[in-house]
Amino acid sequence: MRKINVRTSTPYEVLIERGLISRCGEHIAQVTKSRRAAVITDDIVGGLYAETVMSSLRSAGFEVSIFTFPNGEQSKNLSVLAGIFDFLCESGLTRSDIIVALGGGVVGDITGFAAASYLRGVDFVQIPTTLLAQVDSSVGGKTAVDIAGGKNLVGAFKQPVLVICDSDTLRTLPQETLSDGMAEVIKYGMIRDEKLFELLEKHDISDIDSVMDEIVYTCIDIKRDVVEHDEFDRGERMILNFGHTIGHALEGWHHYTDYTHGMGVAAGMCLITDRLAPQLSERLKRCVQAYKLPTGTDIPMSELLPFCSKDKKREYSSISYIVCPTVGRAEIRKAAVAEFDRIMEG
Ligand code: NAD
Ligand code: GLY
Repeated sequence: MRKINVRTSTPYEVLIERGLISRCGEHIAQVTKSRRAAVITDDIVGGLYAETVMSSLRSAGFEVSIFTFPNGEQSKNLSVLAGIFDFLCESGLTRSDIIVALGGGVVGDITGFAAASYLRGVDFVQIPTTLLAQVDSSVGGKTAVDIAGGKNLVGAFKQPVLVICDSDTLRTLPQETLSDGMAEVIKYGMIRDEKLFELLEKHDISDIDSVMDEIVYTCIDIKRDVVEHDEFDRGERMILNFGHTIGHALEGWHHYTDYTHGMGVAAGMCLITDRLAPQLSERLKRCVQAYKLPTGTDIPMSELLPFCSKDKKREYSSISYIVCPTVGRAEIRKAAVAEFDRIMEG
């Protein structure tokens, strides 16, 4: 088993091994004195993996309850959150018990926020089951729900007490969801690790499973390093947003339907690289294509750019964006909105 120690304000381990969810109970028992666990999941992941997780928890001596909500981003809202609070209350969960998030980034984000706020904070474990959740959202402590005004606008920093990554669970993902996660994996190669990028160049979406454990380990280790330096997202953590400024604009233009986050990130990385590091464009695009992701968009920049300045977390009149001048190195740059628009309209 591979282990990564994340040394944030509350430190924790990430465990990575194929088949690990069937032994999750024994590992969770080591991070809590309690023997009462509440599992939160969605209907797809619950149908596939809840029984394995619950039976392992029971074998380790836990009394287990489960809450299941409909899968998808549309569930990451205040009303499902209220349902989770009611369930935790009805289950008699106390502050010393443990909550287990079993699923993708949606389950992890809403469960993490429930754990941050229920009884002013209950420990929680992440068992991420999408590639995006394993390499990105389960580590680093960002939790949130969406409100009418935008995505992830209500949330908290709350680190898990343990993350359990079982890359066997990725084998049941639809190809589009695996590709989505690969956009973030390519991003890690671009911002920090040319060797990772070279490994991705040797494979494609059809055979990437053969090196998945190595990829998950490498990406989490990069995220660990970034988050340890800037846990509360005041500076360096921004490099994780490579491709995301235009990516979020593309998602927004498509009203968050029929266009996934990974597609946005992939196209966003290619578009900014086209403008500011054109010598890398062909190499990046070949890699992006190998994982069945888009390398650009037909939508005119003039239609997309207004969505960049609608980002509620943006500083007033300027935009910070990320450029990779070489593979494996990222720079944070800042420009007035008008200047950024001029660069992108190129
Ligand atoms: P998701 O959680 O909606 O999962 C995608 C789909 O895959 C869902 O239908 C889910 O039921 C299904 N699924 C999950 N695991 C499966 C498996 N093993 N087999 C088959 N189907 C499975 O989406 P996601 O891409 O994992 O996460 C996206 C969310 O993550 C967004 O809400 C985004 O804001 C958030 N996010 C958070 C952070 C963070 O740092 N907290 C970082 C990046 C993204
Ligand atoms: N996914 C970006 C971050 O964790 O900061």
